[in-house]
Amino acid sequence: MEQVSQAEFWQQRYEQDSTGWDMGKISPPLKAYIDQLPESAKHQAILVPGAGNAYEVGYLHEQGFTNVTLVDFAPAPIEAFAARYPHFPSTHLICADFFSLSDEQYQFDWILEQTFFCAINPARRDEYVQQMAALLKPNGKLVGLLFNKDFGQVQPPFGGTQAEYQQRFAPYFDIEIMEPSDNSHPARQGSELFIKMRIKD
Ligand SMILES: C[S@@+](CC[C@H](N)C(=O)[O-])C[C@H]1O[C@@H](n2cnc3c(N)ncnc32)[C@H](O)[C@@H]1O
Repeated sequence: MEQVSQAEFWQQRYEQDSTGWDMGKISPPLKAYIDQLPESAKHQAILVPGAGNAYEVGYLHEQGFTNVTLVDFAPAPIEAFAARYPHFPSTHLICADFFSLSDEQYQFDWILEQTFFCAINPARRDEYVQQMAALLKPNGKLVGLLFNKDFGQVQPPFGGTQAEYQQRFAPYFDIEIMEPSDNSHPARQGSELFIKMRIKD
């Protein structure tokens, strides 16, 4: 299980084209969320951690969002993204461990979760919550999707339950939405929760 905390584990998955999680396009609930944002959101600082092939980042960029940053510690998907989007600012493509990002250097208005939580070692879930909270500006929010299914596996995706998520996030976040997604990708229908939570004052 510790191997999922190593970049090499994921880099190998990309090199071997063993990326079963990759939907090849933006997740429909996240597209719907982005599409209803007001024009004023286009300059907000947004982070997509564990972005992989980063379809969400590409979509935000195409829609005119100007301050989007991705982080992933596997170089392969970042290189592929940079090749697809040569005009995307390279300083916003961060090849590093999410847990090593300094909150003194980075602060975001919102962070987009997409199959990143389920990829980290479950023993690090509280650390994930704390790091998310640290990287958000006051009133910042965490938006995205979490599996509401226990896969019972010793390798990713590591699932979970709504009750567990509520308990883990509640010390740092006010949960505004945590409900079954009704517009998931067909392969994930009935297995995702849409979340929107705001950092506590
Ligand atoms: C299951 S994949 C999901 C990728 C993408 N979000 C998607 O939905 O296609 C998990 C991604 O998180 C990255 N990752 C896992 N742990 C990480 C960490 N501690 N820091 C940065 N990236 C990490 C992996 O390299 C991988 O690209």
